This record gives sequence, structure tokens and C-alpha cells, in this order.
Amino acid sequence: MVLSVDLAPRHHRHLRLANPVMTASGTFGYGTDYAGLVDVQRLGAIVCKGTTLEPRPGNPQPRLAETPCGMLNSIGLENIGIEALIREKAPLWDTWKVPVLVNIVGESVEAYARLAARLDGVAGVSGLEVNVSCPNVKAGGCEFGARPESAAEVTAAVKAATSLPVVVKLTPNTDDIGAVARAVARAGADAICVINTPHGMAIDISARRPLLGNISGGLSGPAIKPLALYAVYAVAEAVKVPVIGCGGIATARDAVEFIMAGASAVQVGSASFANPRAALDVLQEMESYLREESIEDISSIIGAARRG
Ligand SMILES: Cc1cc2nc3c(=O)[nH]c(=O)nc-3n(C[C@H](O)[C@H](O)[C@H](O)COP(=O)(O)O)c2cc1C
Repeated sequence: MVLSVDLAPRHHRHLRLANPVMTASGTFGYGTDYAGLVDVQRLGAIVCKGTTLEPRPGNPQPRLAETPCGMLNSIGLENIGIEALIREKAPLWDTWKVPVLVNIVGESVEAYARLAARLDGVAGVSGLEVNVSCPNVKAGGCEFGARPESAAEVTAAVKAATSLPVVVKLTPNTDDIGAVARAVARAGADAICVINTPHGMAIDISARRPLLGNISGGLSGPAIKPLALYAVYAVAEAVKVPVIGCGGIATARDAVEFIMAGASAVQVGSASFANPRAALDVLQEMESYLREESIEDISSIIGAARRG
């Protein structure tokens, strides 16, 4: 059975995964914390926490709230910063066979470019995932990924600064995700990940205040699956580069739905909080499904629901 996929077929380095199941940024740390708990080497790829130029303490507490069928988070990109990542995490990744992508995030186009340049040539880093869900400070706080022009500007700057394959991770907080996808593909994205979290909030009625310290947060988990699935379908229609599906994936059935909508790979996010083995369980169940259905090659069902 062939499970391998290439997420950067037009890049000279390629981004070949042994299987299409990845972990989503911010939900699996740096992979290193889970290495003693689960066999991380069996994953298709790991995407580490969103990383900024400087270490960041993140948003005020509380930062998590449960919702029906999901959760809200306003972590605020708490992370150790790029230098500590290169010093403390990359050397271990370099000994792994599973590729690790670094999720980068900046408050300006220059910050994204500097992060990309700094990571170029760092052993243990197989690719970049560009999180364009960050507010563009110069443009009044609107997310870079909300508009095709600003998303493309970030993509082009990152591509110019690195020789690594580049995945751009889109936000659903936009009017036309297909237009944003087309713009980033034209700007050179090797693959597109769909989606980051939509905005949401919860209110503590006894305190008469927003429950999250940051007022709003990102909604994730099964609640967003239909939204993410449709976004994958729309983006796969709009571009030719590989699409990675993300949003509410907790079972192999969910993963196969995303693949049939047009995703070449999937990311498991919030499901890992309840079960650190969630991504590996998805992989194992997917193998059983393919065997039962006599599907020889995962590629044969990519976009199956889009044909005819
Ligand atoms: C606690 C938490 C932290 C996250 N941090 C990041 C991040 O740093 N960068 C990023 O691109 N996405 C981040 N995400 C978004 C996830 O990677 C994923 O896109 C989203 O949660 C939807 O997938 P899910 O429903 O499977 O969780 C975070 C999500 C959660 C729940």
C-alpha cells in the first residue's frame, strides 16, 4: 500500500512524507515533548509551535475555554523564539526521520522574511509553514491572510529568503479564501494548509465579562470540521499546488473526507490534547480503511469527491 505523498512536487528539494498524517501547529509542541509518549517517527510530518523572532509570553489568562464540540484558545503565540528553537530543538529533529516544519509568524513582512532567512540551512528543519493569521500592525491590525495582496506579499518575501519548501497556512477569517489561495500560489507557495482557527468568543455571565483574557480566541475541534472541509474543497478548486487539510480531524473517516475534498495530507490538531496518540490512531485507522477498500495508493482518492 502506498501512503507517501509529496507536498512540494515542484520544489527542487521536494517535501516527501512517508504518510499523509501530520500534527497541527500549536497542538503538539515541538514534537520533542511527545517523543517519550508516542512513536513520533511514524508520523508523516510534525509542525512545531508558531515561532517568532523574539520569545513571547503570550496573552493574559484565561486562554482556553471549552465550547460545544470544540475549544477556544487565545494563547497569543507564546513561544521560545527562533534562536532557542535553533539551539535547543533543531539538533534533536536532525536525528529524526520524520520531517519537521517550523511554523513562523511575524508582525511585519520583514519579520517573516527574517525568520525564513534565519532558518535556511538549519539542519533538522525540512520546511516552513507560514502562519498568516497574525495581525498586520502597519495595516491597522487586519490579519495578513485576510487579503490576497498582503498574503501574497508575505509569501513572496518568505520564498525569496529561503531555499526550503514553503507551506502557507490560510485563515478562514476572510471573504474569499479561494482568492487568497490563488494569490499565495502565484507568489510561490509550494503547498497551502487550510485552515487556521476562525474567531470566536465565550462570555462568563456571572462576571458579565468575556471568558478569555484576550476577549476573543480561535475556535478549533469538531465544531469547525464542516467549515474547514468546504474551505479545502474551495482551495483545491482554486489552485494546483498540494493542499493540506486541517480543522476538526479526529478520526480516519474525517481525514479521508478531507482527502476526498482535495487534500494531499491532513493535520490533526485539538484532538491531540485529549489523546496524544490521536494522529497515530488516525494513521492506523486510515491504513485499515484503505486495506478494507482495496485502495492501493492514497493518491488515487485525493480529490475523489470533486470528480464527476
Ligand atoms: C492551543 C492551540 C494553539 C495553536 N497555535 C497555533 C500556532 O502557533 N500557529 C498556527 O498556525 N496555528 C495554531 N493553531 C491552530 C491549529 O494548528 C489548527 O489550525 C486549528 O486548531 C484547527 O485544527 P483542529 O480543529 O484539529 O484543532 C493552534 C490551535 C490551538 C488549539
